[in-house]
Amino acid sequence: MKIIKTTILSAFVLASLNSNAERTVVDVQAKENHQQKVLETVNQAKQMYSSCKSLGSNEEVNSNCEEKSFPVRAQLTSSIDLPEAITEDDFFNFPQNKVELGKFLFFDKILSGNMNISCASCHHPMAGTGDGLALPVGEGGNGLGITRDTGYMEDAVHERVPRNAPHIFNLGAKHFDVMFHDGRVMEDASQPSGFISPAGDDLPMGLDNALAVQAMFPVTSATEMAGQEGENPVASATAVGNLAGTGGVWEILAGRIKGIDEYVDMFKDVYADVNSKEDITMVHIANAIGAFEGAVWRAFNSPFDQYLNGDEGAMSPNQIEGMNLFFGEAGCSSCHGGKFLTDNSFQSIGMPQIGPGKGDNLPGFNDGLDDFGRERETGSSEDRYRFRVPTARNALLTGPWGHAGAYNDLRQAVVHHLNPQEALNNYDETQNIMPYRRDLSSLDYAVMNDEYSRNALLSNLDIENVNLSEQQIDRIMDFLDAATDRNSIDLRNNFPMTVPSGLPVFD
Ligand code: HEC
Ligand code: HEC
Repeated sequence: MKIIKTTILSAFVLASLNSNAERTVVDVQAKENHQQKVLETVNQAKQMYSSCKSLGSNEEVNSNCEEKSFPVRAQLTSSIDLPEAITEDDFFNFPQNKVELGKFLFFDKILSGNMNISCASCHHPMAGTGDGLALPVGEGGNGLGITRDTGYMEDAVHERVPRNAPHIFNLGAKHFDVMFHDGRVMEDASQPSGFISPAGDDLPMGLDNALAVQAMFPVTSATEMAGQEGENPVASATAVGNLAGTGGVWEILAGRIKGIDEYVDMFKDVYADVNSKEDITMVHIANAIGAFEGAVWRAFNSPFDQYLNGDEGAMSPNQIEGMNLFFGEAGCSSCHGGKFLTDNSFQSIGMPQIGPGKGDNLPGFNDGLDDFGRERETGSSEDRYRFRVPTARNALLTGPWGHAGAYNDLRQAVVHHLNPQEALNNYDETQNIMPYRRDLSSLDYAVMNDEYSRNALLSNLDIENVNLSEQQIDRIMDFLDAATDRNSIDLRNNFPMTVPSGLPVFD
């Protein structure tokens, strides 16, 4: 095979050599004339291009320019404010050895109660740093990504994880100071620890940023990582709500790490305040995990970014049209605005509610299958069904979409925004990718199949219907494509082959 390729290649080289040889016999003067002409045209085009650029807001000149020099270049609509380009300065800085340590921890099942699941099980590089499922399968399941099952016998999962596992792209940016679909982790200078979190005043000091704070919590969830009461000490501590105390979740997990020499050496190397294994705490663990997540999964070299950095040829005319719509007529940027394409606010857009929910109930119900979103944190019914606006960056890679992953098709997730009522009434539940298990599946559409509950999702909308043609929707999809970083597609370099605990990595 290789030989054939080389042969074909050399045939090409020979052929081009031959034609070059022929060219040497043509009139030298004619050749120079031709070259001169090419140069002139290029210079003309360059001049035209720069004057068009500087006069970009004058419509007359614009159409002139477009006709003469760049017939295919779509123009940015003049009334639109584009965000600034993302730079390194938008991100926290993490030392390389901390990132390397975090990489091991992120993939190490040692941090789960039954040592059978790691962060990567639900945030995997091969699934766009999510899991590809509408709702994750937590502790007790087997396998990765869409092939993950719900486990067997007494180890089987007890419920679906009630919300979609979000991706982790760009979360090392300072902008992302709010974590989770309901913002239950949030930077807040008035708190002793600097953060609001489910641990309240028990949250220890010294956490680097909201991303690191987040990493304290998956390990404290029975469904996600800890396991069921009685199965292991972590699960039992979780069951009684002992996170920070003696014998609490965080102490037990730090204890496991202290017992692995390879880890201890790395912690000593990374942290000035770790001189012996006894100094290692869950805060060190979480900070390293946050460093890994924040350093490796940056994504700001999409065609849209290249365009923002001045390369106007980086986006196709269709993508530019889509950008005009996104930041203009379609109104997307009123929530998905700014350089990270989210303003981090909480908005109610009536996304379908599927799965076991978060224990919330409308009056007259007691099944706990609803999810009130932001209201769960603020206690205010005005925040009912409000969820954090997710970034629209890398959207092509991060499905299924929505807080419960109810859309398996990005276009449908976008179309939902245009008329939430119509979308809910026509919601197609067959699209969901989740392992079937009769008892779990029987709960999945309780809210959607009940007209009263379904309509309630629309009772508090922060979004108005927008009329867009199919073609305009196509263009918005083109823009979402342009805002997706090609470097985020292949993340095979982002995982370790082994972890210090010796537990398996590839399942
Ligand atoms: C069983 C699946 C599962 C496991 C295991 C898991 N996560 Fe998650 N992760 C989720 C889900 C689901 C959410 C969203 C929960 C919510 O918003 O209520 C989430 C949210 C997050 C977020 C917030 C993202 C955002 O945009 O707000 C980060 C960061 C994250 N996880 C990192 C981790 C880390 C670090 C670990 C390991 C310590 C971990 N996850 C373990 C499922 C999982
Ligand atoms: C009123 C604020 C608002 C406007 C306007 C808005 N969105 Fe959203 N968008 C949201 C919220 C909130 C969510 C998440 C809702 C949920 O999960 O329940 C979301 C979710 C999304 C998602 C799914 C992302 C993910 O990771 O799951 C995409 C894609 C998206 N929006 C694109 C758009 C586009 C394109 C437009 C313009 C047509 C738009 N949005 C207009 C608030 C808004």
